[in-house]
Amino acid sequence: MLVSMKEMLADAAKGGYAVGGFNCASLESAMAAVRASEEMGMPFILQHATVHEQYLPLSIAGPLMLRLAKDAKTPVAVHLDHGSSVPHCLRALAMGFTSVMFDGSTLPYEENVEATAQVARTAHELGATVEAELGSMPSNFRGELGDYAPEDFYTKPEEAADFAERTGVDALAISFGTVHGIYKTTPKLSLDVIEKVRAATNGLPLVMHGGSGLSDEDYREAIARGIRKVNYYTYGAIAGGRAVYDLVKRIPDGLQFHDVAVAAIDAMSADIMRVMRILARK
Ligand code: 13P
Repeated sequence: MLVSMKEMLADAAKGGYAVGGFNCASLESAMAAVRASEEMGMPFILQHATVHEQYLPLSIAGPLMLRLAKDAKTPVAVHLDHGSSVPHCLRALAMGFTSVMFDGSTLPYEENVEATAQVARTAHELGATVEAELGSMPSNFRGELGDYAPEDFYTKPEEAADFAERTGVDALAISFGTVHGIYKTTPKLSLDVIEKVRAATNGLPLVMHGGSGLSDEDYREAIARGIRKVNYYTYGAIAGGRAVYDLVKRIPDGLQFHDVAVAAIDAMSADIMRVMRILARK
């Protein structure tokens, strides 16, 4: 059933767990997440990221995601991940998304505040939830940092307090050492950033992006300190890719595409169930 993200995150805060935000980059990844949620009996957030527009555009993904959520046996929030502009967020809200993220993390601070507050006002009028981002996880984290240290990009607690108050956001994505995509070295998280931002924002639900590739202990520690939503995609997609590779090796001739899709869904859904188990601390 289609639900609001706000109540989902409030329940997670009460229960001391986190909800997974799983990306819909293809019909198969969305179906895998729904299947995992139903098998585990756990709520989740089905989200569409702007970077996946090239594989499955929002115009097609949106109606599909809403249909999957409405038909699911478990609570599902439908969310725009990394909305790139105010109109982009409004488009998702007009489609019926129950939540949007406006990502103004690379904008000058005041512009991020202004645009996020504008999205939040409209979203709240429509009964939808808003996530925003403060601090950033630039791609140069993966390579040369130049003159910067990772800490230079971390979310600053006093800025988060001001941001939360002036924008009225319902959840905040923060930077404390995770990165999107594949980790080249073992991630080192600054968990105290979570605690400090949480305290400064009166317990605002905090979001961890780049949820792939962390140890079970990293997840547990981050959740214990206040992370209530974990965005996860890359390593699940790799699990799907590996299953397809194995299938192609086993059946090099005459393999039909629908069997490839089924193998990918099976593998991605098993991987998402593994993550859900950790987030629920089961
Ligand atoms: P990963 O692809 O690194 O798991 O991150 C997903 C994410 O943060 C989507 O916003």
